[in-house]
Amino acid sequence: MVNRAIEEMVTSSHGEEVWDQIKQQAGVDIDVFISSEGYSDSITYGLVGATSDALGMPPGQVMEAFGEYWILETTKRGYSDLMASGGSSLREFLLNLPNFHARLSMIFPHLAPPDFLVSDVGDRSLRLHYLSDRASLTPFVKGLVQGLGKMLATPVQVELSVAKDAGADHDEFLVQW
Ligand code: HEM
Repeated sequence: MVNRAIEEMVTSSHGEEVWDQIKQQAGVDIDVFISSEGYSDSITYGLVGATSDALGMPPGQVMEAFGEYWILETTKRGYSDLMASGGSSLREFLLNLPNFHARLSMIFPHLAPPDFLVSDVGDRSLRLHYLSDRASLTPFVKGLVQGLGKMLATPVQVELSVAKDAGADHDEFLVQW
């Protein structure tokens, strides 16, 4: 599903030809990604790297744009009810985030979902803790939360306050709205 969404994001703005070049550069010879199938993470990282080269955007910027695209476009295809059940305000959605992917494990048997925790919850801010074995997805999470802000018409500021890249055991974001 993730690989398909990257494909849709690229083809909708840059066309099929650019996507074919990206797949070729990433050494991916899969014609059609099947949503319910599990694929190696290296395919996804390869596609992001090749997209970054083809579009002349740093990989972090591609990941951030992809996070927004995922929330604002991908989840519309068959997951509107699930997204609606996440909450009707940004605050409520973020508080529900730790349990969100549990409901998806039935649909995606190979799912290795992220771990989210929230702390320091106020009326207009909280700290979002993101724990993952996967590398370099920090900008993706920033884009996801920005996408949630847009979806729920709530201007939001997302600041990485503790970084796994700098040696911490997980990423922590200060989210203010
Ligand atoms: C209908 C909505 C959603 C669907 C269908 C969905 C589905 C998925 C799928 C299939 C994966 C890949 C996991 C794997 O390959 O093992 C994934 C990963 C991930 N999702 Fe979601 N997701 C949804 C909403 C969200 C939301 C709202 C957030 C956070 C704001 C989020 C954050 C993430 C993150 C950070 C990962 C990366 C996993 C990691 O760190 O290991 N997702 N999701």
